[in-house]
Amino acid sequence: MAHRMKLAYGLIRKCTDGRMFTEKAVSSLSSTSIHSPSLLSPSNTVVLPVNANDFGRRMSSTDSADYKPVLVSVPEAKAFIKRCMEKAGASAEHSQQMADVLVMADHRGHYSHGLNRLEMYVRDIKAGTCNAAGEPVVVKEAASTALVDGHNLLGPVVGKFAMDTAIKKAKESGVGWVAAKASNHYGIAGYYGLLAVDQGLIGMSFTNTSPLCVPTRGKTLALGSNPICFAAPGLNGDSFVLDMASTTVAIGKIELAMRKKQTIPPVWGVDSSGEPSTDPAKVYNGGGLLPLGGSEDMGGYKGYGLNMMVEILCGILADAAFGPNVRPWSHSDREANLGQGFIAVDPGRFGEDFAERLQGFIDLMRHLPPADPSKPVLVAGDPERIHIAKCENLGGIPYHPNQFEHAIELAKGLDVQPMRAVGQ
Ligand SMILES: NC(=O)c1ccc[n+]([C@@H]2O[C@H](COP(=O)([O-])OP(=O)(O)OC[C@H]3O[C@@H](n4cnc5c(N)ncnc54)[C@H](O)[C@@H]3O)[C@@H](O)[C@H]2O)c1
Repeated sequence: MAHRMKLAYGLIRKCTDGRMFTEKAVSSLSSTSIHSPSLLSPSNTVVLPVNANDFGRRMSSTDSADYKPVLVSVPEAKAFIKRCMEKAGASAEHSQQMADVLVMADHRGHYSHGLNRLEMYVRDIKAGTCNAAGEPVVVKEAASTALVDGHNLLGPVVGKFAMDTAIKKAKESGVGWVAAKASNHYGIAGYYGLLAVDQGLIGMSFTNTSPLCVPTRGKTLALGSNPICFAAPGLNGDSFVLDMASTTVAIGKIELAMRKKQTIPPVWGVDSSGEPSTDPAKVYNGGGLLPLGGSEDMGGYKGYGLNMMVEILCGILADAAFGPNVRPWSHSDREANLGQGFIAVDPGRFGEDFAERLQGFIDLMRHLPPADPSKPVLVAGDPERIHIAKCENLGGIPYHPNQFEHAIELAKGLDVQPMRAVGQ
């Protein structure tokens, strides 16, 4: 059913989250019309008979088989997350901030960090290991720096406060650099970088995370998947958005391979003796993720270095928990005390016409001859832009049916109105 759809070069689109972007990078992509009445299931749920692979690497990585995604509008996904967070006990404003970050992750195709993580945040609020109300505070400050105490509030609440502080300082003094302590899991690092880009600034963000990664030459968990975002504004809403974990893959990909009884590439993780393993169960149980790149001979020590750099800019700089001392993954028994970093830079304080020159650079890269004509050269942020364009064309975010069912179960448990699919 999938067909090819041409998109005009340079067309500017406005997404349902209000973000403007160009589709310059996308000369053509796969999509499916949702306008055919035959696509309505008996329950009037819009089902999309597409191949999961059409949704790109991240979505296809969650399931390679054909399935019928369930379409949910962006406003409904946000409203559902807000309902759940409020019912768990979070304030309306904090719940909204959580919804904005999680839905942006799904909209951009990073399903591992969207609705998928809602249950974890609900659990943290209900267990009282994360504070449901209050505000982060600046505890130390200079013209271009600040240390923020997150007061153990939800990660997106601390992250937005800290990045807004960095943005304000960058506008005043050219650079704003904020470190936050006593924070929690903040979702996709890209959300915070894009807050700066929206203001015409370069934005960077980092966070430490629970130990899941084995350092080069090691055999025990000592570092998180510590993501890095570097985002910079081009013209007409276009941008460069590098938003990545500093491990080769996220832990979710190991879990999935285990469930499907598949082997994994040896650059993803090691077993309990520190040896690269193709058995996901050995990586998951007693082993760990490899830094970006894989083993030492694959250059994984560079990923290891980047991973430690994040930790230095987060846990060490902010005086938060760091490295192996960070709370183990999926443990809600104590405060996480994550450290996070937020940097905003006003490019106008440097050479002239930054956005014009960056746009020229981005376009140059995108128009390089591809090795495979069916796969154009992209720049960081393009895969997410392609996913957003697909959501826009479909009229909502396509969720895996299992994820949708899980959201229904969560709604039942919390006794809130379930998330509605488009057409329901
Ligand atoms: N909060 C946390 O604890 C945490 C931890 C790890 C990751 N994350 C988040 O998870 C998300 C996924 O991370 P990931 O490393 O799996 O992302 P990924 O591997 O899908 O993409 C990483 C980056 O590479 C770019 N990219 C992908 N294909 C490309 C291509 N062909 N050409 C040029 N650029 C390309 C993407 O635009 C993106 O900027 C991120 O948003 C990250 O912030 C969060």
